[in-house]
Amino acid sequence: MSQDALALYSKHYVAHSFERLELFKLMAASFASRRALYPGSFAHLTPAFVYPHTCFVDTDKRAARFFADPAVRDYVNERKVYSQEPCIRFHRADYVQEFPEAEESYDLLISQYAGFVSQHCKQYLKVGGVLLANNSHGDASMAWLDQDFALVAAINRRAERFSLVETNLAFYFVPKRDRTVTREELERTQRGVAYTRSAYAYVFRRES
Ligand SMILES: C[S@@+](CC[C@H](N)C(=O)[O-])C[C@H]1O[C@@H](n2cnc3c(N)ncnc32)[C@H](O)[C@@H]1O
Repeated sequence: MSQDALALYSKHYVAHSFERLELFKLMAASFASRRALYPGSFAHLTPAFVYPHTCFVDTDKRAARFFADPAVRDYVNERKVYSQEPCIRFHRADYVQEFPEAEESYDLLISQYAGFVSQHCKQYLKVGGVLLANNSHGDASMAWLDQDFALVAAINRRAERFSLVETNLAFYFVPKRDRTVTREELERTQRGVAYTRSAYAYVFRRES
């Protein structure tokens, strides 16, 4: 990998132990997905080590430069856990607007610290495909309120170890205070809600 591209990934992800490789390995082992779409990815390349087809979307010019570097593909080839050639795409685009990917062409949609990906990009996710969302910007709360999604798992984290919980899901998304969470409130605050039980991330299946 060229120094520039390596520096960006190393600085933001490797140096901070923030690659989340085990998270994506757990997702791949638990849900049959080969094509992953990652709006608001920045240079978070890690899913390409696990999924043979990845599409990254971001407005940031550093991310655009990073994904344009041919050394990124070499680096993925060094670290990938699958046998086939990686297929990696990047769109420098605002994911709120349309970008050139076919509807229902992905079986995993990734939403990590990047706003309401679940709302603006669900059309690219197959019905039956899964959304991996955290609640940092309120996107997991938003997906919870959305009839098109059903919660199928919660993911807990202990250091670099991630585990999947598929039972007692009704205990999640219960607000600490007795109140109703609305889409309007989430849009206004762009923050996760305090719940009586929360997880590191959540998995929702697209139902419709
Ligand atoms: C905090 S970073 C998170 C990066 C990555 N998801 C991660 O977990 O490491 C948020 C990224 O989302 C991008 N982003 C936010 N809103 C966006 C939008 N509407 N369209 C495209 N990119 C967006 C920003 O440019 C930024 O690179």
